[in-house]
Amino acid sequence: MIDFLLNGRPHRCEASPDTSVLELLRDTLGQTGTKEGCASGDCGACTVAIGERDADGRLQYQAINACITPAHQLHGRALVSVEGLARGADLHPAQAAMVAHHASQCGFCTPGIVMSLFTLHEARPTPQTPERLEAALGGNLCRCTGYRPIRDAALAMGDFPEARPEWLDLAVDATPPRQELEPEATFVQPTTLAALIDERRAHPEAPLVAGGTDLWLEVTQRLARLPRVVDVTRVAELATIVETTLEDGRAGWWIGAAVTYARLEPLLAGHYPAFAHMLHRLGSAQVRNRGTLGGNIANASPIGDTPPVLLALGARLWLTGPGKGTGMAERELPLDDFFLDYKKTALNSHQEHQGEVIRAIFLPRPEAGRQLRVWKLSKRREDDISALLGAFAWRLDGGVLRDVRLAFGGMAAIPKRATTAEAALEGQAPSPAAFAAARTALAEAFQPLSDVRGSADYRRLAAANLLERLRLVVTHGDQDPNESPSTREVMLDAYAR
Ligand code: FES
Ligand code: FES
Repeated sequence: MIDFLLNGRPHRCEASPDTSVLELLRDTLGQTGTKEGCASGDCGACTVAIGERDADGRLQYQAINACITPAHQLHGRALVSVEGLARGADLHPAQAAMVAHHASQCGFCTPGIVMSLFTLHEARPTPQTPERLEAALGGNLCRCTGYRPIRDAALAMGDFPEARPEWLDLAVDATPPRQELEPEATFVQPTTLAALIDERRAHPEAPLVAGGTDLWLEVTQRLARLPRVVDVTRVAELATIVETTLEDGRAGWWIGAAVTYARLEPLLAGHYPAFAHMLHRLGSAQVRNRGTLGGNIANASPIGDTPPVLLALGARLWLTGPGKGTGMAERELPLDDFFLDYKKTALNSHQEHQGEVIRAIFLPRPEAGRQLRVWKLSKRREDDISALLGAFAWRLDGGVLRDVRLAFGGMAAIPKRATTAEAALEGQAPSPAAFAAARTALAEAFQPLSDVRGSADYRRLAAANLLERLRLVVTHGDQDPNESPSTREVMLDAYAR
């Protein structure tokens, strides 16, 4: 049973564990304003908003893709769909601005765009900048109007009367209590690590879900049935970010596996801007609000975007699983030892580790002088899967390269460091000869696949070119002295770094 508020009104629904929020809205509740376009988290037509209070008690509405969000995750939450925005006959500013600026033609994308604009308006960013607009609308595709009128509408929202339903400010505090679901539930929502491990012991075959940005594609694209699902998003221990110092003296943070990209972004922006910037290439606001670091690692895709970055930074994993009797077994290992073969990881390689989960990821604090660059190549700038991603960390000491770590996604069956290329650079001045040796080592070490995102030849050449780009950055810095301000403007912000 799912108890939640929809547009300020309580609802109680039954649903199978693999029902999405979109199916619940359209098929069960007859709320057809929310549209289905791609059913895979790409187009934004299904965008709705979930209201929650942040750690400081501030009310926030977050955009999510209803097509890949499990309906049961609504339990105890406040959902807003496009049907709820107007106050009687008065349109919400997001709607009024879209009408006034002729920002809709066929209208199929419009409910989703209105909902993204709604969350942007509710956040009231001042000033409203092109970057914030891009960040809010990057997950919404429109195939007929064109984006200029939509952008104009977004910039004009503040000019319209504040016609907001009053329940918007009250709904979050009126949500039904989040009691544990019934014992016979097939969408299981443990709230403690001990309960999660008990569930893993009893049902090791049941898939875990957090953001659902990958698992739910099994349902919508491959029509898989999920008879039992374990939701990790409410496990308290998986939702924390804790500053720590490891036994080897390295300072950093244990980031809970269920921490979303959106929650992680401020920490990364303060310490690893290149990593924070990459999150905007990884996925739309809707995806960043739902996807988790633990999910991206456990998924073990060779083209996952965060593993190469974490490999370059020397991340570690904290794993917890069923121990002897009713206890828990814990172990820690470097991320380098986690990916074993295509989709095969240290979690599922051995009988003795059955039922293990990623509890947290150790992100080291940046050391003085250490640099990081992350470059993602994909066919589309926004919301696309990598053809190739390179993550490079190093420091310069007396004019020579030290602690060089070069990691790639899309170059092998797993995210992988180029250790022989690293060795070719370690202790060397960043000379053309040293980087030529690194490129040769890279070519010998990797045999990438050809697929729809790029041929093996393309990947090999592009990876070598990223190393050349790295040489130029190490030698000359990021700014090309021949680049004029107008060139930078044409070269979109996301590509320019
Ligand atoms: Fe396209 Fe949900 S229908 S993102
Ligand atoms: Fe037709 Fe956007 S108005 S797809």
